[in-house]
Amino acid sequence: MTAARELLAEPLKLRCGAVLPHRLAKSALSEQLGDRRNAPTRELADLYRTWAHGGAGLLVTGNVMVDPTALGEPRNVALPVGPDPAAYEPWARSVAGTDAQLWVQLNHPGRQSPRFLSRQPAAPSAVPFGSRGVRTAFAAPRALTGDEIETIVDRFALAARTFVDAGFTGVQLHGAHGYLISQFLSPLTNLRDDEWGRDRSRFLLELVRRVRAAVGDAVPVSVKLNSADFQRGGFGEDESLRVVRALSDAGIDLLEISGGTYEKAVMMGSGRESTARREAYFLDYAAKARQVSDVALMVTGGFTTAAGMADALRSGALDMIGLGRPLTVDPELPGRLLAGEDVRAERLCPHTGIRLADSLLEVQWHTQQLHRLAAGKPADRSRGAWRALVRTGINDPLNAFRRVRA
Ligand SMILES: Cc1cc2nc3c(=O)[nH]c(=O)nc-3n(C[C@H](O)[C@H](O)[C@H](O)COP(=O)(O)O)c2cc1C
Repeated sequence: MTAARELLAEPLKLRCGAVLPHRLAKSALSEQLGDRRNAPTRELADLYRTWAHGGAGLLVTGNVMVDPTALGEPRNVALPVGPDPAAYEPWARSVAGTDAQLWVQLNHPGRQSPRFLSRQPAAPSAVPFGSRGVRTAFAAPRALTGDEIETIVDRFALAARTFVDAGFTGVQLHGAHGYLISQFLSPLTNLRDDEWGRDRSRFLLELVRRVRAAVGDAVPVSVKLNSADFQRGGFGEDESLRVVRALSDAGIDLLEISGGTYEKAVMMGSGRESTARREAYFLDYAAKARQVSDVALMVTGGFTTAAGMADALRSGALDMIGLGRPLTVDPELPGRLLAGEDVRAERLCPHTGIRLADSLLEVQWHTQQLHRLAAGKPADRSRGAWRALVRTGINDPLNAFRRVRA
């Protein structure tokens, strides 16, 4: 049997001809390290230098918003009206001297934009976000017009071209976790009776077509897609597999598999026993996706050990291992795994036992850790739940206050 280390170290050639140096990727983690104008800060480039030297072979950035008036979080990096690639060059250069690929993840929040950032977000249809409790934080959206949808497609293509001109080596579209692309895919949030609603995958496929045309055939184009939204009547597995086939036919280079939305955050763990036994969250789905397409597959969510990662690769269901939260406390984990060290990704985020607080904490605790890395500090592994929540309560309103509202 091939040793775990050798399996992880194998290069992967993508359809476009680009080669990923090995099988360990850093998945997108929203950094919230943009400045007042939502341009990247020096800390952001410093953070990616740390991650690139930590050994990940593919770094997918945290979500970059294509519309500066539609943010998912305060301090997102967002493409301005007239973008200049030079603004992104220092970030692109952060991986210099390593063999890491750096791909920009492009996103639009749609209705998933908190009230303090968007007084009235726009979405495929006017369906409010979340349960009644959560709705105090998220304003009800209005439905996008056909012209506005075309403009958003243009913005994705412009963003892709701008980042590639700046030196980024690939592009990923964020089609998971309940943001705009997910909203178009889901029958619960896309009630349109025009061409964008009759075929709910049209928006995503049009984005792929336009982004490919903007960056050319040699640049990797990837999509992060939900295996399912895990909501009754929502985007389910059968439909997701149909979208995988269509994406593969449309010529994407890598499909990253995740699942859930911020209403049902299974991407951070479902607690199911079968999942706990097999470490990663979406392996069964990956095996099915493998049956319907030959596109390279990456699974993100739950990986902790070299043995678990190697077993997943050995199963033949996937080609790349995506790591998110573990790299906020140990940026050198990929290098250590590749060196054959006996390490495991630690899951250190504390919990309060209060469901809403804990799902906020899962994001905020890790964001605070990556802010420490960006500032050149070591992770604060023992940071407690209440300390992290209080800090969020202070930082977010302050940052939001600085934003121009949509
Ligand atoms: C702080 C934080 C920020 C995240 N931001 C993004 C993001 O911008 N885009 C995205 O696709 N996923 C994002 N995710 C989800 C991760 O990419 C990943 O799917 C999830 O953490 C599960 O992987 P893990 O178990 O290795 O952490 C984020 C997760 C966390 C904890």
